[in-house]
Amino acid sequence: AFIMDGNGRWAKARLMPRSFGHRKGADAMKRVVNACISEGIETVTVYAFSTENWRRPEGEINTLFSMIKEFMNETIDKEFVKPVRVVWIGERSAVPADVREKIEDAERRTAGNTGVTLGFAFNYGARDEMVRAINGLVKKGEEVTEADVNNALDTRLLSDPDVIVRTSGEQRLSNFLLWQSAYSELMFLDTLWPDMGAKEVKAIIKEYNKRNRRYGGV
Ligand code: FPP
Repeated sequence: AFIMDGNGRWAKARLMPRSFGHRKGADAMKRVVNACISEGIETVTVYAFSTENWRRPEGEINTLFSMIKEFMNETIDKEFVKPVRVVWIGERSAVPADVREKIEDAERRTAGNTGVTLGFAFNYGARDEMVRAINGLVKKGEEVTEADVNNALDTRLLSDPDVIVRTSGEQRLSNFLLWQSAYSELMFLDTLWPDMGAKEVKAIIKEYNKRNRRYGGV
């Protein structure tokens, strides 16, 4: 899973508007997802917009939303090396109807693509996800198991991430997959997101293969 950070700084370093950074960030996302698919990774989740990103200027939000609509309308069917299934994780009701419809339409259209899953975290916050899950569970009024919680979360169709990568030098999870990351390997790269590509994906996999995952054992 990827926390795609650093688009704004990438653009600023080139005296360009932040939206330009997001456009280059979307290109990087295609490169990274394609590199992951080529490496045989079956589930890739990207953090595209958080429940806190509404605090950004309206113009930046609108640019991101129109890019996402285009991505769901066209890119998803055309630019990946294998057919991908889109799974939206995040709160849906606060999302403008036109954007919501495009993402939901992509989910329906790609539901039969079983090889590669693209988790799309949009209007996503892990605490919000957990609160919605808990409210669903308390309605049933029964004691719950870990499996019940997994099934109540937006990520029910996704495997827990083996690795969470954050770019741009920041070392925090920022409300991303807090339940699902219990045993994820964390990697923090100095690279800004728009500079990410196949070479970086190869380096991540190489580093992952060196890690010794014990899951609490010895
Ligand atoms: C964080 O960088 C990035 C985001 C909040 C948006 C991530 C979105 C994309 C990479 C594009 C997704 C688009 C499509 C079409 C799916 P930042 O803007 O916070 O960078 P900064 O920390 O340098 O300011």
